[in-house]
Amino acid sequence: MHPTIFDTAAISGIRLQNRLIRSATHESMAESSGAPSAAHEKLYTDIARGGAGAVITGYAGVQQDGRTSYPGMLMMHDDALIPSYRQLTDAVHRHGTPIILQLAHCGRQTRSAVTGMKTVAPSALKDLVFNEERPHALEEHEIEAVIANFVSAAGRAAKAGFDGVQIHMAHGYLLAEFLSGYANRRRDRWGGTTENKFRIVSEIFRRIRQEQGNFPVLAKINGFDHRRGGMRAQEAVAIARLLETSGCSAIEVSSGTIEEGLSIMRGPKFPAEALLSCHFRFKSMPEPLKKAAVPLLRAAAPSPKPYRNYNLEAAKAIRDAVSIPVIAVGGIHTLGEISAALESGSADYVSMSRPFIIERDIVRKLREGKATASRCIMCNYCAIMVEEGALRCWYGKLPRKRAEPASERPAL
Ligand SMILES: Cc1cc2nc3c(=O)[nH]c(=O)nc-3n(C[C@H](O)[C@H](O)[C@H](O)COP(=O)(O)O)c2cc1C
Repeated sequence: MHPTIFDTAAISGIRLQNRLIRSATHESMAESSGAPSAAHEKLYTDIARGGAGAVITGYAGVQQDGRTSYPGMLMMHDDALIPSYRQLTDAVHRHGTPIILQLAHCGRQTRSAVTGMKTVAPSALKDLVFNEERPHALEEHEIEAVIANFVSAAGRAAKAGFDGVQIHMAHGYLLAEFLSGYANRRRDRWGGTTENKFRIVSEIFRRIRQEQGNFPVLAKINGFDHRRGGMRAQEAVAIARLLETSGCSAIEVSSGTIEEGLSIMRGPKFPAEALLSCHFRFKSMPEPLKKAAVPLLRAAAPSPKPYRNYNLEAAKAIRDAVSIPVIAVGGIHTLGEISAALESGSADYVSMSRPFIIERDIVRKLREGKATASRCIMCNYCAIMVEEGALRCWYGKLPRKRAEPASERPAL
């Protein structure tokens, strides 16, 4: 029998009131220390009160050179942060909702101009979007440090009251770079075969298990990307099997890298105006040039099709191969699509990101029959405009003058 949306469920002992999860979404809301802010607490408690089965936080960095280039990233690199995270988890738990901390290292998908440190990657290959510089190929002792930092961050998450952590190994960030033959050209024990590329992940899992026992550890992986020599479904299935034997609690299946344009979060129209208004490469361009660039950008960087349900095939292939829960994400925004994903056996859970940006209480609305679909139009301005300030829904429009400070923006 296949799962239904509004039944209670459990992932490695984490009790969920239903099978709809808020997928990790960077909010550009953290304090400069990396601590969660009052805006985070409001956002996550709103989502919890709004009926989500579980909340996965925006990505939290495990070390300084792994910070995102966007402002306000959550960090979990320091014990001093534990009390502020404890306040956050307590607030979310008051609504009976579990909260999972996503841990990440951004690898070469960041900028040293922002982190203040050299960017790092498995191999010294430039990222087409981010790097003005060639990243430093991590040496053996530096890989060991990355592993240790993921493990310590998971320990802090357990102390801070999180119900689990999710290791971000999708979307072209550091661990995805290790897993992908496109970004990982190493010839040592960290590259080459799938097992070698997976070694950094298996070490992270082994040591978290050693130190934290049964503390739930989820993974977000790419079911595929479109890079030459990159991730393909068959290898993603092999990685899912390795994750299962490493003690992973559940696998969320996504796809894409930032180099591919908007393939992680797809949509019918490339958000050219948003990109030109705030991206570091374009924002200082003269206005007439920006105007001329809009159609060029739209033609050059369309989202791959389809725009909806685009990771379901990969999720199903993975679900057929493992016995741990599989979470599907990516353009699954209507009640019909969610039910179909569960009933077709493609996934055990569905997660969503953009629908929670426009309506924090979307799950309650779906449950109470007050909505049958998200109001999200997939304009993707949210994904671009986090470079300027706090996450919000822009609904495909920029204000005529420059954006006002985040604190003055109306909450959605
Ligand atoms: C503004 C924004 C920020 C995101 N930040 C993260 C993140 O921190 N970690 C992550 O794994 N995915 C992140 N994503 C990707 C989403 O979790 C999700 O995989 C993707 O948006 C597709 O799902 P959706 O169609 O429900 O939005 C982000 C997406 C958006 C729109």
